[in-house]
Amino acid sequence: MPTTKHLIAPSILAADFAKLYDDIQIVNNSEADWFHIDIMDGVFVPNISFGFPVMQAIAKHATKPLDVHLMIVDPDRYLKNCKDSGAAVITVHYEACTHLHRTLTAIKELGCKAGVALNPHTPVSLLKDVIGNIDLVCIMSVNPGFGGQKFIEQTYAKIKELRYLSSEINDSLLIEIDGGVGIDNAAKLIEAGADVLVAGSSVFSAVDPTKAVRQLKNIGPIASHI
Ligand code: DX5
Ligand code: ZN
Repeated sequence: MPTTKHLIAPSILAADFAKLYDDIQIVNNSEADWFHIDIMDGVFVPNISFGFPVMQAIAKHATKPLDVHLMIVDPDRYLKNCKDSGAAVITVHYEACTHLHRTLTAIKELGCKAGVALNPHTPVSLLKDVIGNIDLVCIMSVNPGFGGQKFIEQTYAKIKELRYLSSEINDSLLIEIDGGVGIDNAAKLIEAGADVLVAGSSVFSAVDPTKAVRQLKNIGPIASHI
């Protein structure tokens, strides 16, 4: 494992957009590590979320790094915009990149961490020849496009396989899990080898989002869940 403690990235997609500032402050004042920012184009995924002007507004108030998940076709066109809008991590989809190595190089040249997201049907073995160029792999544990979906169980096997692959080639690779993550599966995900847990509805639909983050952050084989 590259991290001694896993990271928590609340997904702003599940926030209340009418009181975004308040929800940003909740994340700022919580034990969360990153903001997860979901950008959708209505083409790569069957939904449209928000774009760079909203991301810039978030960046103005966020005191933690922005982890940007681009669910868009042809992401190369927007990498500079994304960086200029405040991204620390830029994750593109494997399925949206014809020249993935070139895209990853461009992200790094901008000074950002380079991430690759895999749809549920995409095997981790396809990353073998490029894994040394990746900072983070986001394993989608739902089909991308919407929050609040059911977690796909095959994810655990993918994490273990990727952890094995990365231990041979890129030991500092971060494995992020996105979709249907909550208190019920967090410990098992970490045990399988996850480093970053994205949590949307399990944080923002909770009665106490700060407590939900704290529980996710402090979960683990030896930690209490209460
Ligand atoms: C889905 C997004 C996720 C989403 C997760 O396409 O990539 O980041 O916000 O939401 P939950 O945690 O509700 O599944
Ligand atoms: Zn996401």
